Formats: sequence, C-alpha cells, structure tokens
Amino acid sequence: MFLANPNNPTGTYVPFDEVKRLHAGLPPNAVLVLDAAYADYVRRNDYESGIELVATSDNVVMCRTFSKIHGLAALRLGWLYGPAHIVAAVNRIRGPFNVNTPAMAAGIAALEDTAHLERSREHNTRWLAWLTEEIRKLRLDVTPSVANFVLIHFPTEKGRTAQDADAFLTARGLILRQVGAYKLPNALRMSVGSEEANRLVVAALAEFMGKRA
Ligand SMILES: Cc1ncc(COP(=O)(O)O)c(C=O)c1O
Repeated sequence: MFLANPNNPTGTYVPFDEVKRLHAGLPPNAVLVLDAAYADYVRRNDYESGIELVATSDNVVMCRTFSKIHGLAALRLGWLYGPAHIVAAVNRIRGPFNVNTPAMAAGIAALEDTAHLERSREHNTRWLAWLTEEIRKLRLDVTPSVANFVLIHFPTEKGRTAQDADAFLTARGLILRQVGAYKLPNALRMSVGSEEANRLVVAALAEFMGKRA
C-alpha cells in the first residue's frame, strides 16, 4: 500500500496515529510504503514521516526525495529507509547505475546545508498561510495544505472555471498546474513561489474573479 503523506495535489496529511492504525489493520504480508516527499514542510505536532514505524516493524518503508525542499529535482535523487530484507530486494531489482556520483555528493552537501533547509521552511510557512488567506478572500475555496503548494477550487460557472482561470493566468506568464488527471477538473494547484510570484498570482486571481462572466 502506497500512502503519499502529505498528499499531492491536495497538500493534506494523515496524522501519525491514523497511519499507525492503518498499518495495524494491514495483513503482515502487505508492505506499507510511506511517500514523505513533502515531510520537511509540515509544521504539525501530530505528523510524523514514518521513521518510527519503519524502525519498529518489518513491513514499512519510507521514501524521501531531494526534489522538493532541497530544490534538486533535476538530479533525480531520493532515498529510502526500510528493513534490510526490503532494501535487499530493491537492490536486486533497481537499475545498476540508477544514481550517479555527483548527484550523491550534491545530496550529501544538501543534507548538511541546514541553513537552506530552515530558510525554505520559514519561507514556505509564511507564504503558504498568506496565499491560503488571500485566495480565500477572493471567495475561492483553498484546501488546507501542510505542503509547499495549495489546491485552489474554482466555480463551475462559465467564465470562472479552473480552465478559464488557467488561460487567464497563463496569458500573464503565470503557470499553475491543471489537476484534471487527478479527477479534480475544477481546481488548479499552485506551488508556493517567491514573494513576487505569489503576489502576482493573487493580484491576477483578484482581477480574474472581479471580471464579469
Ligand atoms: C508525493 C510525491 N512523491 C514523490 C514525488 C517525486 O519525487 P521525485 O522528483 O524524486 O521523483 C512527488 C513529486 O511530484 C510527489 O508529489
């Protein structure tokens, strides 16, 4: 069973008690894979990425990536923490040169760069709250997020749909993500960006919502 926690594209999360309950209810021959790609952004006391569950069971694996808070998506680097018997199985089936040496060196340097991590976390905490509040003021629904993006829900009325908003924003050079493939045709996902980008999107959305259909 794969659980993205926090989840993409909603930004929602499952508290650790609930993850443990899920694990307790699984048959022992099932593997629980906790995809904690966005764990570093979460500021909730009842969240845990799953390290404890990996350490105390033999069928739980946690996956992490350097693509998000470390900003190294182009390196294609991630890591996994799991019991030795599962790691051994992954080692047998993975591609022989799946990770290159410069990427590993960069990954280690990134882990040591705690100042960058803290700066990114602080930036995200501040602007995630700001975006959520400002976009809600425009009478758009925003799913409460603990990650580094927000899911914005648009009306179904003609001229105000997610597709209309996407066209409006794209024409101004502001690229959000359509999430129809996740069965969310009425929503757009916006990553928390720089202050300038965040303010530009909110101003453009205000203009969009102010327009008559
Ligand atoms: C939940 C989740 N897991 C993993 C990834 C991908 O990470 P990577 O860039 O390491 O493939 C993403 C990226 O979008 C994600 O949303």
